[in-house]
This record gives sequence, structure tokens and C-alpha cells, in this order.
Amino acid sequence: MTHWPVHGRISGPIVMIGFGSIGKGVLPLIERHFAYDKSRLVVIAPDDKDRHLLDERGIRFIHQPLTKDNYRHLLEPLLTQGGGQGFCVNVSVDTSSVDIMRLCREVGALYIDTVNEPWAGYYFDRSKGAAARTNYALREMTLEERRRSPGGPTAVSCCGANPGMVSWFVKQALLNIAGDLNVDVEEPKTREEWAALMQRLGVKGIHIAERDTQRAKSEKPMQVFVNTWSVEGFVAEGMQPAELGWGTHERWMPDNARTHETGCGAAIYLLQPGANTRVRSWTPTAQAQYGFLVTHNEAISIADYYTIRDEHGGAVYRPTCHYAYHPCNEAVLSLHEMFGQAGKVQDQHHILDENEIVDGIDELGVLLYGHARNAYWYGSQLSIDETRLLAPYQNATGLQVTSAVLAGMVWALENPQAGIVEADEMDFRRCLEIQMPYLGPVVGVYTDWTPLTNRPGFFPEDIDTSDPWQFRNVLVR
Ligand SMILES: NC(=O)c1ccc[n+]([C@@H]2O[C@H](COP(=O)([O-])OP(=O)(O)OC[C@H]3O[C@@H](n4cnc5c(N)ncnc54)[C@H](O)[C@@H]3O)[C@@H](O)[C@H]2O)c1
Repeated sequence: MTHWPVHGRISGPIVMIGFGSIGKGVLPLIERHFAYDKSRLVVIAPDDKDRHLLDERGIRFIHQPLTKDNYRHLLEPLLTQGGGQGFCVNVSVDTSSVDIMRLCREVGALYIDTVNEPWAGYYFDRSKGAAARTNYALREMTLEERRRSPGGPTAVSCCGANPGMVSWFVKQALLNIAGDLNVDVEEPKTREEWAALMQRLGVKGIHIAERDTQRAKSEKPMQVFVNTWSVEGFVAEGMQPAELGWGTHERWMPDNARTHETGCGAAIYLLQPGANTRVRSWTPTAQAQYGFLVTHNEAISIADYYTIRDEHGGAVYRPTCHYAYHPCNEAVLSLHEMFGQAGKVQDQHHILDENEIVDGIDELGVLLYGHARNAYWYGSQLSIDETRLLAPYQNATGLQVTSAVLAGMVWALENPQAGIVEADEMDFRRCLEIQMPYLGPVVGVYTDWTPLTNRPGFFPEDIDTSDPWQFRNVLVR
């Protein structure tokens, strides 16, 4: 593609928080797709590894961490000076999404992030119980903020690839399945109608099923955690409890599963770290594979969005929903090394940039299962080669995320008074329209694989043969 459309105009300052693998990749997309005053773009981050990219462009850089104590003082003038509507693009770790989003809305600025993040220290605070360290708890804080202050300036919560884009894929996948089953449907317009469609199609659950086959040019050295995106981010979420949206078809829970006493009730968590919890899943390239059940906001938001309740508020229909992530091979080895050391994180971290990868794709999609055609995977198969042609400073994993940030920013500009929203609540067609040119092949594939395929093997197993799509069969024990 040679013509890149300008999607909108940002009338005030742009404040980007964080300039790591995602920030670096978002920058060229902002430059390409928005009209804005270049002298009013500022980046804040405590590390200056890639500062030359900013210096080359004359972009102001504030070399400092945001903290609970300084964020108001630092951000308020940056977001308001010079007039127009400011836009805060939060692509950092260790900053509180809900605090920063509240401030943005107070000063009338638009806001977007890719994860619901707490201030530094939260994830590793041993004095907090497991329930407090869940994404369920973090999401409930954001929902509480929305109840406290409904409507107003748009703040898009958790809008990367996943969480984010995969919520748009779920809707497209539902329409594709309905078409293939010759189910006569009008495109749903409300949350209730979407939930009714999913129930009508017989979907029992959804895996966010990912296989990252990007290969590093050199082998992972010992005691270095290598990944294709934030090591800090991945380690933090991987050490949180495993968490999943809990479907109404489930008949069994592991002994170490826990439910929540307050909030939407859509999810459960396990008393074990997500990155050390394996599940059976499927993607087109890998076919059957193990993935890690790492907690993610979308596992909860999707399960919540598609819940149908009776008049007493009890859930009568809800899909199970969770991540099943096979990261790049170097990251799998890094996790193995880390958990071999009782979870002690390696001192050295390394994110593979686009020049350090030989080949491979990030195959990221949604696997909708339990319906009349068994299971359907719909997603992006973006390769590193295509990524290099599409946009600078990022690998395939990064571009799936940054193009979702772009789509979320455009949607926010076009819907500036929508209040706090999650990807499930945005116009999936508009967002995918903006994002599609960056996703490589986007395909839908049916499979007859189930978590019981070829099982049991040589040894007896605790499985439920009456329904292959029970979590009992999915979880590796
Ligand atoms: N939704 C998705 O699909 C998705 C995918 C990848 C990453 N993410 C999230 O995006 C964020 C950025 O990821 P990344 O790969 O660029 O991470 P990274 O580790 O490469 O970079 C993180 C950046 O945050 C900055 N930072 C750290 N502490 C800060 C503070 N107190 N104040 C301001 N900045 C601070 C760092 O200096 C760095 O620039 C992470 O939170 C990650 O979880 C989301």
C-alpha cells in the first residue's frame, strides 16, 4: 500500500507515556495517520534507549518515571497547554491506568491504553492476596470509575491486540459462523443482541489462541529473558494468578479455583501463576498445541459482555474465555528457566526487534468452540517480512498491537464523548477497517480438533468424555 490515509486531526497536545517496543511502533503510525501540531507531541519515559528516534524528529522527551505522587503535576499542564483537545496515549508499564484516565477526563483530554495497569510494585506485593492481584480486581476499579463518572470524554481501556483487536475478531467470527451455518441473522446492534447471537450459535467458549513463530537470529543466552514484546509486562502478568471468564456450560472446577464475592462475577482465578499454567488449544499453523493461560483483561471483558442474565441477575448464558498463548520459542525457554528458579526473574531482559528475527509470524486469533461446526479460528497471520514492509521500528507482534492503538485512537476522535469504554463496546467494523491494512492475512479456519483428540494416550486421564469442551479437558494437569 502506498497511500496512507489521514484519519483525523488531533487538535491539542499528544502525550505518549512509555517509549518501549509499543511506543516506538505507535509513533510512525501517529505520524502517518493524523494531522497534529508536531511541536506539541511529548514523550515521557524513565528509559532513554531509543531516544535518538525522538531527537531526530525534534520531539520533546521527558526522561522521568510517572509516579502516584508526580503524575498530576506532570501531566495536567502537558495535556492542556496551548488549547485544543489533548490526547494521552499510555503505552507504559508501572503506571495506573485508572488514575491517569481519571485525570485525562477531568481536563477534557482523550485517553487510550493497551492494558489495565497499576502503579509500580502492585503485581509483586506479597501482602496483597491473590484476589487483589487479579485483572478482575483491576477491571472492577475501572468499571467503578465508570459508574462514578458515566459518559464524558472518551477513555479507551485496554485497546491493543489482546486485549483489544481480538474483541473485534469475536464479532466478525460470530457473523462468519452464522453465515456458514445458514443462520438467518441481522447484525446485532446492542450488547444483548450480540450475546443472544453467541448463545443461539451454541458457542461454549473462546480461546484467544496465539502462536508466535518469530525466530531469533541467535539463541537465547542463559539467564536472559527474551520476548517479542515487553518482558516486564509479560513477567508481571505471567506471575498474576491464572484467570478465565467462566462459562455457564462448565461442570467442574480445579480445587485451587476461586470465585469473586463482588463485581460482575464473570471470571474465576486459580491459585497458580498464569505463565506456569498450560492449556490445550489450536491455531492453524501449530494445529494442536499447548498455550499458557496468562490472565488478560479480554478474558473477563468478553465473558462479561456476552453474559445473558435472568430477572434476578443470575447468569443463564456465558462463554468461557481465556488466553492460550504460545509465545516465541525464546520466551518459552525464558519462562522455563524462570520457573525453574522458583519464579526468580532473570536480571537481563531482551525484546527482539525487527532486525534480530530471521522469520516467522504472529498468529493471533480467536477460537470459538462448541457450536455445530465444532471450532472456528479467526485471526491475523502477520509475518515479520510483511511487517518490515508495512511500518518501521517493530516486529509482527508489535504491529498487531500498534495498529489496534491506531484504530482505537481514530474511534475515540470520532466518538469523543463515549466515556470509559472497552474494545467490546466499540464499532468493530470501523476499527477493523482502520486496522486491516496492517494485519497481513486475516483468515477463518474450521477444525475438528477438540481437547480430547488422541486422548487418553498411554495412561489413564481424568477427562470428561461427555463434552470435549469442558475446562476439565482443556487444562493440563
Ligand atoms: N494489549 C496488547 O495487545 C499489548 C501487547 C503488548 C504490550 N502491551 C502493553 O503495552 C505496554 C508497553 O509494552 P512494551 O512492549 O512497549 O513495553 P516495554 O517494556 O518495551 O516498554 C515499557 C515502557 O514503559 C516505560 N515506563 C516504565 N515505567 C514507567 C513509569 N513509571 N512512567 C512512565 N513510563 C514508564 C519504560 O521506560 C518503557 O519505555 C505494556 O503495559 C504492555 O503490557 C499490550
